[in-house]
Amino acid sequence: MSTAKHQSKIALVTGGSRGIGKSIALNIAKRGVDVILTYNNNPEQGHAVANEINNNGGKAVALKLDTAEVGSFGDFVSHVSDLLKKTWDRENFDYLVNNAGIAQRTLIKDTTEEVFDQLVNVNFKGVFFLTQKLIPLIVDGGHVINISSALARFSLPGVAVYGALKAAVEGLTRYFAKEYADRKIRVNTVAPGAIDTEFGGGKGDESHRQQIAAMTALGRLGEANDIGLFVASLLSDDSRFVNAQRIEVGGGIFI
Ligand SMILES: NC(=O)c1ccc[n+]([C@@H]2O[C@H](COP(=O)([O-])OP(=O)(O)OC[C@H]3O[C@@H](n4cnc5c(N)ncnc54)[C@H](OP(=O)(O)O)[C@@H]3O)[C@@H](O)[C@H]2O)c1
Repeated sequence: MSTAKHQSKIALVTGGSRGIGKSIALNIAKRGVDVILTYNNNPEQGHAVANEINNNGGKAVALKLDTAEVGSFGDFVSHVSDLLKKTWDRENFDYLVNNAGIAQRTLIKDTTEEVFDQLVNVNFKGVFFLTQKLIPLIVDGGHVINISSALARFSLPGVAVYGALKAAVEGLTRYFAKEYADRKIRVNTVAPGAIDTEFGGGKGDESHRQQIAAMTALGRLGEANDIGLFVASLLSDDSRFVNAQRIEVGGGIFI
């Protein structure tokens, strides 16, 4: 009988305190993957997700990270590095899920530079530099998933900057897959449809929710778990030859 110790995979999920990121963290933990999740304004919720995983036999740690603050990423990477050594006796981790994101509904004519910059910083600049700085800690053969949006594919009034930035993230996905191919790191985009979370103030009143459901082939809004389940399966070796792809998980919205 082999005495080799089984080594769990480790995933880092940004914005794991609520909504889709929370579901991703819980679903990958159910598959036996250890989790480093980040929170920004909601430390209690971030730690609650980590506790839920730890209480169910998994291993998780919650860390503070503001993905708009690129200047803080150096310290964050050192923190992750120390945590990996202390908690897992490892120098690297396996999967990065860039999930943290914000939306602010505003027509093009009303969009201020301040709102524009905040959307850019969280949804695009943060994704680029966090991945750039963490990728040296990701194992060869690891996997990065960027969470985009169905809104990168079609246009609705009020989300021009957000939709364009998500399209930009989809472009980045292919470039990262190209430049890190020598290390066999897979990089994919998951693009959720309309998911019932608090994102951007939530999905509105019942009539608005019904409108969204009517625009969706499967006839309903998505749940966070629809995305969490899918990301967990995409991270696994079941999808080991899927690379540089955009996969929409939206029940067939706007087809
Ligand atoms: N819900 C949808 O319909 C939908 C559709 C398509 C795509 N998406 C995408 O899915 C992702 C998750 O959305 P969601 O619906 O789960 O949203 P959510 O419920 O509003 O949760 C957002 C998460 O991101 C974190 N976050 C926000 N700003 C951050 C910042 N500056 N730095 C670090 N973390 C930050 C939040 O942390 P704290 O709470 O701790 O601050 C929270 O954990 C986003 O990228 C979004 O664009 C959502």
